[in-house]
Amino acid sequence: MSDNDKVNTGHHIEDRELIKNARKPEGELGHQILDRMNESHEAMAQWGVTHFEIKDDSKILDIGCGGGRNLERFAQLISDDGRVVGIDYSEVSVEKSSELNKDAIDRGIVNVLQGSVSEMPFYDETFDIVTGFETIYFWPDFINDLAEVNRVLKKGGLVFFCNEAVYREGEMEKYDDLVELLDMKIYSEDVLRESLEKTGFEDFKAYINEENDWICVTARKI
Ligand SMILES: C[S@@+](CC[C@H](N)C(=O)[O-])C[C@H]1O[C@@H](n2cnc3c(N)ncnc32)[C@H](O)[C@@H]1O
Repeated sequence: MSDNDKVNTGHHIEDRELIKNARKPEGELGHQILDRMNESHEAMAQWGVTHFEIKDDSKILDIGCGGGRNLERFAQLISDDGRVVGIDYSEVSVEKSSELNKDAIDRGIVNVLQGSVSEMPFYDETFDIVTGFETIYFWPDFINDLAEVNRVLKKGGLVFFCNEAVYREGEMEKYDDLVELLDMKIYSEDVLRESLEKTGFEDFKAYINEENDWICVTARKI
């Protein structure tokens, strides 16, 4: 394998063709990366979800649900009065999430759909909580997409995003390769705050995990 087949992710040197699938998993490599992300994002997700409360009747939407590990986590925290819905524009992600959550889907508390964040097939004010783990980097039009998130949330509902990459002035060179490969956008706390405030959210909070430099943010629909 030549150097051209590799990519520097900012943390490791990885196989370029595999990492390409982080944006929209497809085919066999898509399956592989989703299995991997269910494991490699677990510590960050466990930390992230300590920053909001899930009730047994919460209606939760996870956008960019990938391999479906967060759907599984949420399904374990709700009763039959709650609902967990996953949406992802990748067919392979929908397949993986559905496989992992088969029992909860059969029980009627989890549903997984294929679709884009930009135009979601849900009525206004459907959900109490909308989450996105490691996905907002890829959203095509952040402000419009946040407005769409706002639309499907109930008034006072909570939005939550969790990312392992945070924009830091003067420290972004390490991500150059990855940003180019995946055409991704890495947001700072300030941009996340401004974008959420512009699209109908208040009570913004940002949390940084200093040890790993992870970020998660929450805000509420006005
Ligand atoms: C890096 S993976 C993260 C998956 C999972 N949330 C996790 O933390 O392991 C990004 C996921 O977001 C999905 N995604 C990216 N852009 C999207 C969009 N515009 N609409 C819906 N899903 C999107 C991808 O298909 C992929 O499954």
